[in-house]
Amino acid sequence: MKEDEKRICVTGAGGFVASWVVNFLLSRGYLVHGTVRNPCDEKISHLKGLKNAEENLRLFKADLLDYDALRAAITGCSGVLHVACPVPSKKVELIEPALTGTRNVLNACLKENVKKVVVVSSIGAVVIDPSWPRDQPMDESCWTDLEFCKSIEEWYCAAKTMAETEAWEYAKRTGLKITMICPSIVIGPMLQQTVNASSLYLLNFLKGLEPADNGLRPFVDVRDLAEAILLLYEKQDAEGRYICSSHEIRTQDLVEMLKSMFPSYRYPNSYREASTEVRLCSEKLQRLGWKYRPFEEIIADSVHNYEEAGLIPRDRKIPD
Ligand SMILES: NC(=O)c1ccc[n+]([C@@H]2O[C@H](COP(=O)([O-])OP(=O)(O)OC[C@H]3O[C@@H](n4cnc5c(N)ncnc54)[C@H](OP(=O)(O)O)[C@@H]3O)[C@@H](O)[C@H]2O)c1
Repeated sequence: MKEDEKRICVTGAGGFVASWVVNFLLSRGYLVHGTVRNPCDEKISHLKGLKNAEENLRLFKADLLDYDALRAAITGCSGVLHVACPVPSKKVELIEPALTGTRNVLNACLKENVKKVVVVSSIGAVVIDPSWPRDQPMDESCWTDLEFCKSIEEWYCAAKTMAETEAWEYAKRTGLKITMICPSIVIGPMLQQTVNASSLYLLNFLKGLEPADNGLRPFVDVRDLAEAILLLYEKQDAEGRYICSSHEIRTQDLVEMLKSMFPSYRYPNSYREASTEVRLCSEKLQRLGWKYRPFEEIIADSVHNYEEAGLIPRDRKIPD
């Protein structure tokens, strides 16, 4: 890789996924321009402590709705990894940053002659398709049905679908080189101090929060996802959208696994039956060379991370 290809902008650098992306970029000798909403906020202090951050990480203040600020962060970068997006939030706070934010990032990339952009979409833009055969794993050809999605008020999935559609139309219109990644539910150790939405999914089981439904859901580790994002950036032949998901498990089986590994927490006792049955196919990403870790390792590393962060007591007997 040439020297000028080693300067990369990562949007929303302080978030759960982006922090790992920044961490891996810095450890591989990249110069990183990270956008954050408030560079003075304590919640992004972990970024400054990453290895090589002092020399190679520059933080830029930029809201997704502020085109000029985004453009200033992207200036001089040959690549942009667009990770920032509210997850999940209220309808009004979601669609604008997802859609206008993506538009702003892509416009700035075009103006600054960025060679390659990787955009983080979501399986939310893939899986809400009632016409897809139930027993067939969903691949990259599957798209969320936007009107149906809106009718059931799945605003996060609607926002991600709109943003992804917009990005593909933009790429077609302008020739900007874009690759898209669609991750499933992301868990794993957090580098940041504030708990993000998808980590709460696992964390709540360790607190015994009920009720839980027994749906079949897909997961991926945050470190495996960050590696996949870098893979898409670095591989010349990466093209189109890529589902990034490694394991599917029913809630009850997940809780049984947690119980066997960490017996002293208080877990849900009963489960509602659920129609959620999401089966995904990440073969396209694997063909590019993507590997992922075993589910037991993801679970163990996550729980140890929550314990170290003081989010749950260390694995000891909790009185009934
Ligand atoms: N976690 C998952 O399960 C999952 C699954 C599929 C796809 N994804 C996608 O992965 C990406 C990262 O998600 P995450 O899990 O890392 O979530 P996260 O920890 O909540 O990070 C989201 C980041 O986006 C930033 N952001 C939100 N609104 C913004 C705005 N208006 N202007 C500038 N920055 C803004 C946040 O900044 P602040 O800290 O300032 O709010 C934060 O840095 C998102 O695109 C998400 O849709 C996540």
